[in-house]
Amino acid sequence: MRKNIVAGNWKMNLNRQEAVALVDQVLTQLPAENITEILFVPSFVHLHKIAKMCTDITNVFTASQDCSSHESGAFTSEVSANMIASCNAKYVVLGHSERRSNFKESNQVLKIKVEQAFANNLAVIFCCGETLDQRESGAHFDWIKLQLTESIFHLSAADFSDIVVAYEPIWAIGTGITASSEQAQEIHAFIRDLIAQRYGNYVAKNTSILYGGSCKPINAQELFSQQDIDGGLIGGASLNATDFVAITQLF
Ligand code: PGA
Repeated sequence: MRKNIVAGNWKMNLNRQEAVALVDQVLTQLPAENITEILFVPSFVHLHKIAKMCTDITNVFTASQDCSSHESGAFTSEVSANMIASCNAKYVVLGHSERRSNFKESNQVLKIKVEQAFANNLAVIFCCGETLDQRESGAHFDWIKLQLTESIFHLSAADFSDIVVAYEPIWAIGTGITASSEQAQEIHAFIRDLIAQRYGNYVAKNTSILYGGSCKPINAQELFSQQDIDGGLIGGASLNATDFVAITQLF
């Protein structure tokens, strides 16, 4: 059966000392019987340290926020999937809307990044989601279908078992406006149906689909109680240990 996952996307926040302090606080507050898969998603420079802090802690892992589309070579400042894997990360987050909009990452580039991740045994959290304009004009279903089709639906069914999809409506990210549980569930069911059409029901049922966008302790429970919402990709609230731990325990 699919896993419940809560990932804390720190974005470009926390220096090394702050990052270590936050992880310490989260690990101290986590119940011993934690069964949610919990991911810290720090900046590259903290990845190795945080992964080390999570060694031997059941169900707690790290993910990077991105990886290069190149394997290696003369690409100053880029970080390869191989480098990330060598820091003991389990996942790489790809296609976050801030990468798509600020760095013009296309579905085609993301497809190559997905391949780099898989070539280095990293699982992928693949983000998709629409703008407010797209939602208001009813274009969001086609847009999300295109994002998935062009970047991850070329994978084999075996590889697809290492994909987690994160639905993040852009209008809800960092805005304090959360999608209603009905709005989120509608898109999650749509995504699961697309996966079923492409890979069959078994794969679709076993794929974790996370919601992201102003998810907090106060609204996460209702979101997570929806049939097709298997956890969250948490930005702002993941920077507070108490809030983040609370969200991880709401299943
Ligand atoms: P937010 O960010 O929780 O601060 O809205 C979510 C994300 O961007 O992954």
